Parts: sequence; structure tokens; C-alpha cells
Amino acid sequence: MEIDSRFLSTGLLLFATILVAKLISAFIVPKSRKRVPPFVKGWPLIGGLVRFLKGPIFMLREEYPKLGSVFTLKLFHKNITFLIGPEVSAHFFKAPETDLSQQEVYQFNVPTFGPGVVFDVDYSVRQEQFRFFTEALRVNKLKSYVNQMVAEAEDYFSKWGPSGEVDLKYELEHLIILTASRCLLGREVRDKLFDDVSALFHDLDNGMLPISVLFPYLPIPAHKRRDQARKKLAEIFATIIASRKSSSKSEDDMLQCFIDSKYKDGRPTTEAEVTGLLIAALFAGQHTSSITSTWTGAYLLCNNQYLSAVQEEQKQLMEKHGDRVDHDVLAEMDVLYRCIKEALRLHPPLIMLLRSSHSDFSVTTREGKEYDIPKGHIIATSPAFANRLGHIFKDPDRYDPDRFSVGREEDKVAGAFSYISFGGGRHGCLGEPFAYLQIKAIWTHLLRNFELELVSPFPEIDWNAMVVGVKGKVMVRYKRKELPINQ
Ligand code: HEM
Repeated sequence: MEIDSRFLSTGLLLFATILVAKLISAFIVPKSRKRVPPFVKGWPLIGGLVRFLKGPIFMLREEYPKLGSVFTLKLFHKNITFLIGPEVSAHFFKAPETDLSQQEVYQFNVPTFGPGVVFDVDYSVRQEQFRFFTEALRVNKLKSYVNQMVAEAEDYFSKWGPSGEVDLKYELEHLIILTASRCLLGREVRDKLFDDVSALFHDLDNGMLPISVLFPYLPIPAHKRRDQARKKLAEIFATIIASRKSSSKSEDDMLQCFIDSKYKDGRPTTEAEVTGLLIAALFAGQHTSSITSTWTGAYLLCNNQYLSAVQEEQKQLMEKHGDRVDHDVLAEMDVLYRCIKEALRLHPPLIMLLRSSHSDFSVTTREGKEYDIPKGHIIATSPAFANRLGHIFKDPDRYDPDRFSVGREEDKVAGAFSYISFGGGRHGCLGEPFAYLQIKAIWTHLLRNFELELVSPFPEIDWNAMVVGVKGKVMVRYKRKELPINQ
């Protein structure tokens, strides 16, 4: 009997505890749940994957109108929370590394860039390495790179005949790798080793596949070739660096800047670090710039109004400066700048930017809804989607470079982070001025020396590429014809 009553009182206590816990959770949990971002609907576990594999932009196009600017996609055991638009993405761009970091989400670059650089090192070291980039891309350096860009463009297009038909995409890719070799990798590579080095870069490039993002060390042939190529590149650069050091010869290129760079404690960069940083620079700048030059061309050749405007600008600059094309002349090309910027708004090559979150944070949407995003989520934003938001950019799918001109400035009026082709904030692109100068140098030469006509249909977007670019060929008919200057 005594045992029975003890059982009864223990049972009652347990029941009461569960009841109280339920009541507490009934009051507390729904309150916090209300502020969790909505989830993308799909089958459990693989639902998110199916949606994501269809293409992240297609998923965003479907979900944004239903769920708004903040929502979460479950991808296996991971939650990816999207922050779309300047009203909610400020934290993405401004948060310190301790709150939102790049290291985990961009780890897949490590076997390509190599050990000891960028995403393989602590943030404090990475910051110093980004300082090396900043120094290598200062205006005084850019001025000498521009002279090399102009020389490369002149040399490349001198090989075109008096008239003909070319795949502009292939031509610009090729010219940009030549220019990048010269400005970034140095004279030795450009003059003597170009074919070997570009073949090795090709292997590195082909070793970065969508599967590499999830499994960068998967023993597949493409990864094996990538690893061999990186080793060979390291050997080539070790020889070049040693020879530059022993002859005390100094060159005007990024290689030299990295060789001369020193960490705060006075330690110079190692040969392996210099190689890794150069690979990172090439990966950051090559496809992105060549894709942007191709889109710029495709839009100009389909929009007479803007083609005439950039030609007129060239004529005026030729009247003012003659044939001189240098950093300062390129800097005066506002119309061409806006035409490139608009092509890049419509087609940012990096369509998705990612961070890993280490602390809880909240965002408020423009409708005034507040969401709490718990730590542990992957945080994503999308230049390709955000750059076409109708409440930021008028008639967003239209090519309209004037949207950036004084009086409209649609990239600014809704606040920072409206236009995010180059990212922004803490990790904004360090190569933006370099990229504009390179694309301007190429188009300046083409506009001044050729009459061009797009003969293939307007290109489509190649969503399957890691760096999203132009699908298929972009056939252009050209005829040598100097731009007549106004008398
Ligand atoms: C049209 C050409 C280019 C585009 C569209 C572009 C785009 C971007 C974007 C979106 C980011 C931010 C990534 C993020 O937030 O996760 C970025 C970062 C970066 N870019 Fe570029 N980029 C271009 C050209 C270049 C060039 C030519 C270089 C160097 C020669 C370069 C070097 C860098 C570096 C070093 C960073 C990392 C900055 C940091 O994390 O602090 N980029 N770029």
C-alpha cells in the first residue's frame, strides 16, 4: 500500500513537471518561432537539394514572391538563410569575421589556391594577405598595369585581319588571360612560359566543379589533375622568384608586389604563399572580367543608342588627348563605365555569396517584419537576384546604363548594398578598379579601330558554370575602321 502511494506521488510529480514544461513551452516557443524566417517547402532531407539543384536563381525567383526577403532552405542537415535586398543584407556585408565568416564556406578553394594562403589561414593572416592585394592594386601600380593592358590589346587585335568573323567570347577570354599573365604573373610567364602556365591554369580551372564545393578532395581525375597542376605551378614560380631575388631585378607586376610584401612581424612571404596568392588573384579576376567584357559587347552591339554614346565619348577623348590611352584617360570614360556596370548588374558572374554564422542576429524587412537567425546557419545573398529587384531598379530587366547617371543613381538611392556585383562592405572586391580598367582598355581599342556587328542571337546565360557567364559562342563580324574624330 505504502509502495503504491509512493508510485502514485512520483507519477503525479512527473505528470505535473511535464504539464508545467508543456505550459512554459506553449508560452515561450511559439513566441520565438514567430520570428524564425519562413522555410522553403519541399520534401524532408532532399527537398532543399532538389530545389537547389534546379538552380539557386530559379529557386529564388519562385520563393521570394511567396516568402519575402528573408527565408531558410534546408539542405541536408544545413540551414541556408537567404537575405535578399539592401534592407536586410547589411549585416551580411558588414559583420565582423567572428560573427559571419568566409573560411568554412569557401574552404573548397584550398586545394586550388594551395596551402598557407587565403581560406587555409586564420583571419588575422588572411587580412594581412588581403593587405598585400590592396597594395598591389593601388593607383600607382594600376597606372603601370594599364600601359601593359593597352599594349596587350593593341598586339592582340593587330592579328585580326581587315575584316572577318570571330567568337568574341573566345577572343576576349584569350586576351584577358594574356593581359592577366603580364600584369599579375609577370614578364617571365608572359614572354616564355605562357603556353605551359595557361595549360596548368586550365587544369586548375577544370578541377573546380560543382561537386568540388561539397567534396573538394574527392579522388576524381579532375581533382588529381588539379593537384598536379598546382604542384607544377609552384615549381615554376619558385624558379622565377629565386631568379628575381638573386638578380635583384624588380618588375612592375603583382608577382613583384607579393615577393616584396611583408607581414606585420617583418616576415617576408614564402614562395609557396606568393604562388597561392597569384593563383587566387587569377581565379578572382580572370573569368569575372572576361565574362563582363563579353556581356558589355553583346549589349552595346544590340543597343544603338548606347553604342553611339560610347563612340561619341571616345571621339571627344581623342580630340582632347589624341591617341593616348592611359589610366587617367580611361578614368574619364564615364559613359563606357556605366555601360560596363549595367552589363555587370544584369549578369554578375558570382551569383551567390556565402558566409557561416557564429552568432545569433536579427534583421528587419522593409515591411517591418523582424526575424531572428540563429547561429549555425549558412547565410547567403545573391547578386544575380538582388541586382534585379524591381523596387530598387526601375524596369530591372532592361539594359539601361543611364540608371547610374547623376539624378537617378539607382545603385545608391536605396542605400549601400543595392548593387552588389562586386560584393561590398568588409569583403568588397579588391580588384574592382583593375577589372574596370582592363575592360575599358579592351573596349576602347575595339571602339576606336573596328566596326562590329553581332551576328549570332543575343547570348543566353550559362547557369551551370561555377562563374556564371555566357552560353555558347558570341559571333561578331568585324571590319577595320578607325573612329573618325570630330573636326
Ligand atoms: C568583373 C570582375 C570582378 C567581379 C564581378 C568580382 C566580384 C567579386 C565579389 C562579388 C567579391 C566578394 C565575394 C564575397 O563577398 O564573398 C569579390 C572579392 C574579391 N575580389 Fe573580385 N571581382 C572581379 C575582379 C577581380 C579582380 C580583377 C581581382 C584581382 C586582381 C579581384 C580580387 C578580389 C579579392 C582579393 C576579393 C576578396 C576581398 C575580401 O574578401 O576581402 N576581383 N570580387
